[in-house]
Amino acid sequence: MELTTNPFVSAEIDFDSIEGPKRGLRPFRYPLARAGDDSVVCPIDWSELQARFGAIDLEIGCGVGFHPIRRALTEPSRALLAVEHTALKFKKFAGRIRSHREKGMGLENLIPLHMNAIDLVARWAPEDLFDTVYLLYPNPHPKEKQANQRWLRMPFFGRLLKSVRPGGRIVLATNIESYWSEANEFALLTWGLESDSDRVFTSSKVPPFAGRTHFERKTLATGGTCFESIWRKPE
Ligand SMILES: C[S@@+](CC[C@H](N)C(=O)[O-])C[C@H]1O[C@@H](n2cnc3c(N)ncnc32)[C@H](O)[C@@H]1O
Repeated sequence: MELTTNPFVSAEIDFDSIEGPKRGLRPFRYPLARAGDDSVVCPIDWSELQARFGAIDLEIGCGVGFHPIRRALTEPSRALLAVEHTALKFKKFAGRIRSHREKGMGLENLIPLHMNAIDLVARWAPEDLFDTVYLLYPNPHPKEKQANQRWLRMPFFGRLLKSVRPGGRIVLATNIESYWSEANEFALLTWGLESDSDRVFTSSKVPPFAGRTHFERKTLATGGTCFESIWRKPE
């Protein structure tokens, strides 16, 4: 059994025990039985993180982890909490972290969390903490009856914004233009965020190999368009 060490998380992650999806079962593995169980301790030592790093960022739904690993390597003075709840994807992310560590890259500023980001933030994230929150290619939930599962249409988004420091940023990228437009409408009109920048790009501007995430690379490689907005929480 191989464990990773990270001084900022209270429970070690047993990567080998993470199972992929089984036939007939959905790959979502959040332990619902533990929801509402107040005896479960916060997995993060926030004050240690704050003492050690200049900024703390959060990535929700990091998939197989290309973006958080790259960011953690290029921004060693910032901590990044990278949350993914799908077991198989987290396992691949964990494998990548392990091989980087075997090559001597400690990635101590990267905190991989195999859990539901809603649970993490709603229960444990302090207010005014995160510098940047990444929502990169979230599940689009395209049907109207799923609209309340899109991040900016969830009441949870208000709680997420509380955890962002004034002046902090939210970065959203999607390959679906209607999702992008709707998210902007909600960001500016419902949540009172300020627009920082918008970017639309295809493989003519960003070659697929330079994509930040697995999904971005796939979108660019198949002729798709990526839409990105960065918003700021007012000071
Ligand atoms: C379309 S994938 C994109 C993954 C990655 N960001 C990329 O661009 O390749 C969306 C990811 O968000 C994850 N996700 C959705 N809701 C989540 C939640 N509440 N907590 C943690 N992960 C979540 C899904 O498991 C999935 O891996």
